[in-house]
Amino acid sequence: QSGWTGVNECTFIAVKPDGVQRKMVGEIVRRFEKKGFKLVGLKLVQASEDLLRDHYWSLRSKPFFSKLITYMSSGPVVAMVWRGLDVVKTARKMLGETNPADSLPGTIRGNYCVEMGRNVIHGSDSVESAQKEISLWFHQSELNRWEDCGSQWIY
Ligand code: PPS
Repeated sequence: QSGWTGVNECTFIAVKPDGVQRKMVGEIVRRFEKKGFKLVGLKLVQASEDLLRDHYWSLRSKPFFSKLITYMSSGPVVAMVWRGLDVVKTARKMLGETNPADSLPGTIRGNYCVEMGRNVIHGSDSVESAQKEISLWFHQSELNRWEDCGSQWIY
């Protein structure tokens, strides 16, 4: 789909309930802003189990599936869309490995968490997943296209 690659590539990032409870939203937003990505959408959401089952549909046969849904619905998450060149791959690097024990120091999971079942943040694993996840979590009207938005003075 045109418009979804190059500098316009977008990814879906969610600060999970443990990250919100630990007040890590500011630190995570700061890292993405400082890296140079553009914030396209952001909201605090108490996700329904239906939404989470759709989101994690490909994992439905995994033994940890119901635990994952319970964890993700245990409190609000901060859902975000970030845009920029290679943002899907770069965001995954910024997050670190799924298992915090394998995440390098300096990454979000490497610095701030210990357990797989409390790993602070989600990031889409491919451009295709990102498109699916963004349309699941956001209405088109909630996403900012950064056109006519008054930032042309930043060179
Ligand atoms: S898998 O098995 O390779 O498909 O899993 P993976 O891609 O590494 O992880 C997919 C998401 O499932 C979460 N996960 C778990 N949650 C709780 N307990 C266990 N054991 C577990 N294993 C994997 C993992 O955090 C991934 O969530 P997201 O939100 O995508 O980061």
